Amino acid sequence: MTSPLSRRAAGMRRSDVRDLLRHAGEPDMISLAGGLPAASLFDLDGIRAATAAALEHSPAACLQYGMTEGQPALRTALVAHLADQGIAVDEAGLVVTAGSQQGLDLVARALLDEGDLAVVERPSYLAALQALGLNAPRFATIAVDAEGGCVDALDALPEAPRPKLVYVVANFANPSGATLSLQRRRRLVRWAARRQVFVLEDDPYGALRLRGAALPSLVELAREVPGAAQWCGYAATLSKVVAPGLRVGWLVLPPWLQEAVVRLKQAADLQTASFTQEVAARYLASGRLAGRLAGLRAEYGRRCDRLVAALQGAFGACLDVRAPDGGMFLWCRFTDGTDTRALLAHALRRRVMFVPGDCFFADDPDRSALRLNFSAADPDRLAEGVARLADAHRACRAGEP
Ligand SMILES: Cc1ncc(COP(=O)(O)O)c(C=O)c1O
Repeated sequence: MTSPLSRRAAGMRRSDVRDLLRHAGEPDMISLAGGLPAASLFDLDGIRAATAAALEHSPAACLQYGMTEGQPALRTALVAHLADQGIAVDEAGLVVTAGSQQGLDLVARALLDEGDLAVVERPSYLAALQALGLNAPRFATIAVDAEGGCVDALDALPEAPRPKLVYVVANFANPSGATLSLQRRRRLVRWAARRQVFVLEDDPYGALRLRGAALPSLVELAREVPGAAQWCGYAATLSKVVAPGLRVGWLVLPPWLQEAVVRLKQAADLQTASFTQEVAARYLASGRLAGRLAGLRAEYGRRCDRLVAALQGAFGACLDVRAPDGGMFLWCRFTDGTDTRALLAHALRRRVMFVPGDCFFADDPDRSALRLNFSAADPDRLAEGVARLADAHRACRAGEP
């Protein structure tokens, strides 16, 4: 039978990360795979209080339809939240989205026609590759090193056709953990203004800095470069710092793009859920987040150090481990040629899981890389998880079935 599916639906690959999640709940499984925040660190009291206050003081706003751009109370709270991070924006420049994932989807749809050039890092966030890929662009990639994406490579792109979108995660990228240096951020913003190409910075992890000082976002730096503000945007979310179940994210966009994104969002879902937006607004206004973030950073820092030490102890030089300055992930690479997809089968049998690195590439996948998450696993089981991984690696190298 000829498939009744659209080319777009038929051609789309499933997310390995989401597919792996179904193993996470199996008995005795140690998951180092997902990008989940630690459930034990959710601020249940704070969210409960915010929910009760929202229902008591603004029941109609919680339960009624609202504006596509977002609930006024949340947009006001987000302006203050962003100002704390040095991002000056007014409410008109914000669109609330259903997680930052929807922001990526809407920006990609607003900019990309089939065959257009989109630039991503190698490696890049898997679900961004899916969202951009839905529009059937051609991908160009830039390598990632210790200073983040090698943005110099953008100069080598031909003048025509001009790329339509550059997608970067500048802080503690998923999966590489790399952070774009200040010098490269400045260079990227100047390039965007000169070439008139839109650059979207996706920043779900910036608040989860484990060491070092914060760097300015691209939208802030764009204020220093004439014309650049038209070509830089910012996507962020409460998922990693409050709770992904709220599905509250937002976009900061120049007006020409914001208009288009709002129209697309009307078609997609009319608006993000009023209820969770009102809860998020109350939660942000309660001032609890700063204290919670300090606790999250301290705990994730401990977990990261513990995982790095266990990996170095178990694998030595045969695994190159990059400890990030923040976020949730370790990006590792076997130096002995181990194929991490083959390794995953051995690992699952030993009740430990990770994400093979090859799924994070728009082109030329690295089959010896893997992504390990340190935020979600029980910290007391990290060493056991690594011991299981080491045994899986031994079996894989020995060619055991
Ligand atoms: C880089 C990056 N962007 C966006 C998202 C999507 O987050 P959400 O839609 O929950 O805000 C994630 C989630 O893992 C991510 O790692």
